[in-house]
Amino acid sequence: MLRPPQRILMAPGPSNLHPRVIQALIAPLTGHKDPYFLGILEETAALLRQVFETRNRATFALPTSGGGGMEAALVNPLEPGDTIVVGDAGFFAHRMVEIAQRLHNVEVVVVCGKWGSPVDNTELVEAVRKHRPKVLGVVHGETSSGAEQPFDGLSDACRETGALLVVDAVATLGGVRLPVDELGIDICYSGSQKCLSAPPGLAPVTVSDRALQAIARRRTPVPSWYLDLGLHARLWAAEHIYHHTSPVLNIFALYEALSLIVEEGLQRRLERHCLHAAALRAGLEALGLELFAHPAHRVPSVTTVLAPAGISSTAVKAALLQEFNLEIAAGLGEYADGMWRIGIMGHSAQQANVILVLSALEQILQRQGFQPRGSGAAAAEAVYRD
Ligand SMILES: Cc1ncc(COP(=O)(O)O)c(C=O)c1O
Repeated sequence: MLRPPQRILMAPGPSNLHPRVIQALIAPLTGHKDPYFLGILEETAALLRQVFETRNRATFALPTSGGGGMEAALVNPLEPGDTIVVGDAGFFAHRMVEIAQRLHNVEVVVVCGKWGSPVDNTELVEAVRKHRPKVLGVVHGETSSGAEQPFDGLSDACRETGALLVVDAVATLGGVRLPVDELGIDICYSGSQKCLSAPPGLAPVTVSDRALQAIARRRTPVPSWYLDLGLHARLWAAEHIYHHTSPVLNIFALYEALSLIVEEGLQRRLERHCLHAAALRAGLEALGLELFAHPAHRVPSVTTVLAPAGISSTAVKAALLQEFNLEIAAGLGEYADGMWRIGIMGHSAQQANVILVLSALEQILQRQGFQPRGSGAAAAEAVYRD
């Protein structure tokens, strides 16, 4: 019999599920054409619009993980002869570059940034004006570095040149403010398992009318049938034209997770993420650890922290899991060993979890020979008291 351990999930995804979301996963299964299910599908789209802060008709969830959302956001608008500008300052932005490089005859212009900081917006705007791309792609919350990308000037430059602004919100939707319409974002995709606290497997996406028109003007069909956003839009529209067998229980779970966000209030939820991120960071610094991301550009949903010299980040991570049932993540790319990434996401973003991470880290670090400077938990408590 299957007996997975009960973990406290404090990596940058997946996050823990609220009991109501778990309940949705064991709800009676309906068919994907059942009127009850189709009603929930429509309500899920309406809830997603609230969380994306958009009026886009084409707002739905693809049956894939966040990476599938990324692929869909690129293969739909781009066709041979097009150019894309990508702001690349981390592992996931680089994945955008790699996906675009696989597309036939698409020129990829990379504007590089330093890991831990956002990509310079002036450089992005200059690149858009110079190369007049079909797409400008940026990552809102770079999970590999913990940096948040600001949007100043990006949408204006895109509108001026006819480019589409594509934004990765896999690590931020539902946890960090991202008003899609206000920011002039054309295609925004996310993942169900992070700040939304639904199980992994769905990629919420929203597509502006401007982007839909650009896709409709393609000279060649979208090269991926399964990720064709127009076909998904028809499934989620009132006619519900068959495209795939919907993952019914995952949609129920997403519906419940989104309902919880709306009940909590989006604004309150975003503030909750900021509060727990501030407490966690104060605690980590009190322990004497060095935070990685630039202080002015830290994304609330992901905290990146460097392992002190002589400490094995992988051994600490393993001990947290084994002894405390607590999951945090290692670094990515060149930071695979030497960095921890801690999520403040959705249902996992709770005071008790933050205090547990800090106390457990303190004990394990001490055992490994690192003398913490002070009490992480006390510093975090002080933030909660303020
Ligand atoms: C910013 C960002 N983009 C894309 C992805 C890929 O998402 P998934 O692992 O759900 O495919 C991730 C996953 O961590 C991410 O953090």
